[in-house]
Amino acid sequence: MKALILAGGSGTRLYPVTISINKHFLPIYNKPMIYYALSLVFLAKIREIVIVITPNDIENFKKLLGYGEKFGVNIEYKIQEKPKGLAHGILVSQDSIEGHKIFMVLGDNILFGHGLTELLENTKQAIEKEGGAFIFGYYVKDPHRFGIIEFDKNGEVLSIEEKPKNPKSHYAAIGVYFFDENVVDYVKNIQPSNRGEYEITSILEEYLRVEKLKAKILGRGFAWFDAGTHDSFLEAGEFVATIEKKTGLMIGCLEEIAYRNGWIDDQQLIKLAEPMKKTEYGKYLINLVESKI
Ligand code: TTP
Repeated sequence: MKALILAGGSGTRLYPVTISINKHFLPIYNKPMIYYALSLVFLAKIREIVIVITPNDIENFKKLLGYGEKFGVNIEYKIQEKPKGLAHGILVSQDSIEGHKIFMVLGDNILFGHGLTELLENTKQAIEKEGGAFIFGYYVKDPHRFGIIEFDKNGEVLSIEEKPKNPKSHYAAIGVYFFDENVVDYVKNIQPSNRGEYEITSILEEYLRVEKLKAKILGRGFAWFDAGTHDSFLEAGEFVATIEKKTGLMIGCLEEIAYRNGWIDDQQLIKLAEPMKKTEYGKYLINLVESKI
């Protein structure tokens, strides 16, 4: 399975902040936003990663992440000339993902909760074995802003609707998806919506039509943010700061996950920490090696 992270878009809901900077570089407390999406990929133990970016951001992404070598992964960048929608992100990546199952994460999503690693690994294994698509529902107060999943009483998906006027439930599809290799065929056949975007819901509808769409509700033990608005951006940062200060453990720390996964060794971790040693972040990394916690 390969991972696909969407980090293009226009970020207009964060204007004026994002007029001159791509939102994925903005800090959610102590690390760039993109770290959180990438951390889900690392937790799912996927090392082949494609990141969709705008034409302006390649140099900054290379500066931040390189080609993944420092984390022991392989990152490929795909340029999306215009933000034509989430499904369009799949379309521009097709030559890299064709023939692979994919784990797709939106670059502004932050997900945290007990048992997350196990959930991601188990879902990955299920898709590898059985194919189909898998999404996650999260209870939201304002369902008209999201892609909304309707479930029957057995937890099967009945419908999925993008930003509905009359929502059939309060369960938003979060920006974390698993797809089998059919996704590329589906994406080639969809048409842009009324707002001119290639919608991810069009793909999910295809999976639903062939009875291959599964969804799981993430309960109260999970926190999910789409950090794309001023308020959710701030809330996400406050949440991360609170949890990290309380527990002494980091959320979305790529160096740590790569180290714990055995993708980098003590020496490599110390080398990554070196330029950051004046920060709590750098000290945390050094402590991982010294205390072996
Ligand atoms: P959105 O938040 O839906 O869109 P956006 O980032 O352009 O922001 P805004 O609505 O404020 O203008 O995008 C969700 C994620 O997907 C985000 O991390 C950016 C990414 N994305 C792409 O990579 N390509 C796209 O064409 C779109 C629409 C989004």
